[in-house]
Amino acid sequence: MPVTAILGAQWGDEGKGKIVDSLCEHADVVARFQGGANAGHTLYINGKETILHQLPSGIMHPKVECVLGNGMVIDPPELWQEMNNLQNQGFPIDERVHISLQAQIVTPIHKHLDAKTELVLGSAAIGTTKRGIGPCYADKANRSGIQVRELREINAVQQKVNEKMEQLRRNNLATADEIQSLLQFMDQFYMASTAILPYVTDTSTLLNSYIHAGKNILVEGAQGTLLDIDFGSYPYVTSSNTIAGSICTGLGIGPKTIDNIIGVYKSYTTRVGAGPFPTEQLNAIGDYLQRTGKEFGATTHRKRRCGWFDAALGKYSTRINGFTTAVITKLDILDQLDQIQICTHYENGSFPEIDLQSAVPHYISLPGWQQTTAQTHRLSDLPKAAQQYLRKIEELLEIPITYVSIGKDRRQLICLES
Ligand code: IMP
Repeated sequence: MPVTAILGAQWGDEGKGKIVDSLCEHADVVARFQGGANAGHTLYINGKETILHQLPSGIMHPKVECVLGNGMVIDPPELWQEMNNLQNQGFPIDERVHISLQAQIVTPIHKHLDAKTELVLGSAAIGTTKRGIGPCYADKANRSGIQVRELREINAVQQKVNEKMEQLRRNNLATADEIQSLLQFMDQFYMASTAILPYVTDTSTLLNSYIHAGKNILVEGAQGTLLDIDFGSYPYVTSSNTIAGSICTGLGIGPKTIDNIIGVYKSYTTRVGAGPFPTEQLNAIGDYLQRTGKEFGATTHRKRRCGWFDAALGKYSTRINGFTTAVITKLDILDQLDQIQICTHYENGSFPEIDLQSAVPHYISLPGWQQTTAQTHRLSDLPKAAQQYLRKIEELLEIPITYVSIGKDRRQLICLES
């Protein structure tokens, strides 16, 4: 394994959490390099659902260490709560969680600004998760953010936050009532900011020492390639780089240390929030996928928009990330369809030369299998039509598929490698 990255190839929610969790059997460390509490990684272990927002999915394996890298934006109260919940469920946290001292801190002010900006944008809103992600990364780029290391001098942080509060007031970015309700979150914010300090460390040095020692490291992406701030469907994107290129800057490791980059694709496409979605099905098929796939956002509980697999964008993701292999998730959701479509390319050009809003998908139709796949353990046991569907995707993406997920549980994973 040494360093293997697992990244979303679509608009997030591809099921990365389950894949990271399943591959953790062979991992010593799982590291996240970007994003924050906007992520929602849903895991089902022995029938119990756990949703992780900031902790890497490896936390469910008691021997795996978890790194929250410098590229992340950390929300202390949410993180502290997540850590306590897991501890109460019997998953040990101490000595296993390492938070980069160079990561950025999300304050209640960032969340307020996120919600306010969305409100002002009205019908042009991005549909953010309102977790303060955009304003926090904006402060980072503006060199006015708060790094985790600063929490060691909590009085100085308090002063900085008070000044930012004053700026809100001066610039009419918050009403007197809003300032009052923001102040109510502050005690909890400072309490959690102090509570996470024992877990703060120089994670870049730590990770490099683990790489040197030959430990197996999984890098877990959040969101997906099409939400990348440079390469995604801008401006309907998140505020970080979600792609493979950002692993090095988000963890402080060299590019040559990354051995495998696995792209996770759902067997159809979903997205939450606003923005273009060429293969969206605003019809019975879309409803079927949404209902059968239980497509609700893990963070915001919004219904996800659904559509056919888009190999035009899939191939783009493969290229942008340099995926070495692909994983296909939720194949079982297609089980009952009689025909399944795949968009092979756009008839009027390719992204990013054309705006995704104007893309005209060209579809091919493949026969469905109309049988249950959830209990399958080998590729050869899958219905022939399902095998054909996977081979077509493989051919279009031009990379081998190594795993296929056919259910929520850890064990419902078919390995295609011999
Ligand atoms: P933000 O990251 O909260 O600023 O939201 C920006 C866009 O990214 C919105 O369309 C969100 O719905 C989307 N987004 C953010 N995080 C996730 C995720 O984990 N899965 C899917 N979409 C996400």
